[in-house]
Amino acid sequence: MKLEDVKNVGVVGFGVMGSGIVQVFAQSGYNVIVRDINDEALKKGLSVVEKNLGRQVEKGKISEEQKKEILSRVKCTTALEDLKDVDFVVEAVVELEDVKKEVFTVLDKVTRSDVILSSNTSSISITKIAAWTSRPEKVVGMHFMNPVPVMKLVEVIRGLQTSEETLDLVVKLSEKLDKVPIVVNDSPGFVSNRVLMPMINEAIWTLYEGVASPEAIDGIMKLGMNHPMGPLALADLIGLDTCLYILNVLYEGFGDPKYRPCPLLIKMVDAGYLGRKTGKGFYEYK
Ligand code: CAA
Repeated sequence: MKLEDVKNVGVVGFGVMGSGIVQVFAQSGYNVIVRDINDEALKKGLSVVEKNLGRQVEKGKISEEQKKEILSRVKCTTALEDLKDVDFVVEAVVELEDVKKEVFTVLDKVTRSDVILSSNTSSISITKIAAWTSRPEKVVGMHFMNPVPVMKLVEVIRGLQTSEETLDLVVKLSEKLDKVPIVVNDSPGFVSNRVLMPMINEAIWTLYEGVASPEAIDGIMKLGMNHPMGPLALADLIGLDTCLYILNVLYEGFGDPKYRPCPLLIKMVDAGYLGRKTGKGFYEYK
């Protein structure tokens, strides 16, 4: 498969990451068919894309006509089988192994055998995902960052069996999306989350031990380290459940206590304080 042959892209999952991924592909001229489990989820995902494009119209970055054209390239479905004619797939469903396994097993059956199946997983082993399919050389990590339309990086993950051809295409495709791909090997948390999550966890420990308030911790990291947002605000953006999940992947993957999630993070997730998506995390959101 060559880059020029990729015209129709399948995206599985229309949540926070999926909607950003759909937007960048459609905005780069690709036809996108996006699948989620029900009409409500599809409607919600589409409204996020519409809102983001609407903001670009207001700022004069694109015209109303362009917005309509971009949206006309997006088709929604609840049936994975409808992805049978796509040339490339990005999976962005919930970070649960059973759910991903089911998705990849079906995708492997319904898509052409030359189609690359990429995953936006933030922590599940690409080597493991690849082994669920009959085309492990065509399975690769394509890890976008949140918010997807804004962040330049695509962390491209090479599973043990990922071929050079697959990597080459994903790198070129990422560049076509106006992103900057960086290739890494498969390992718990890859590079991004292995480095980011211990910082977020440490910020939570600092709060837990009463060293400083959330505003002080974030203020120090913003003003002192020039981070665009502090680690606690970032945890709220990512989702506290996702942070906890990734820390557990690191903790179990390396068997190293340095990744032990802070009890406060566990308690907040238990309480349903998941960050922006639930309106409450370390901060409150309207
Ligand atoms: N979706 C789309 N666009 C968005 C957006 C969103 N959710 N949030 C902000 N933007 C856009 C705005 O429209 C604005 O666009 P223009 O420049 O065209 O006007 C631009 O981003 C800047 O937005 P704001 O001026 O409102 O706010 P800001 O300057 O404070 O930037 C931010 C917001 C981009 C989120 C910035 O705070 C930031 O970069 N934060 C760090 C984000 C980060 O670290 N992400 C990685 C998370 S880790 C991850 O994703 C991996 C994982 O596996 C967990």
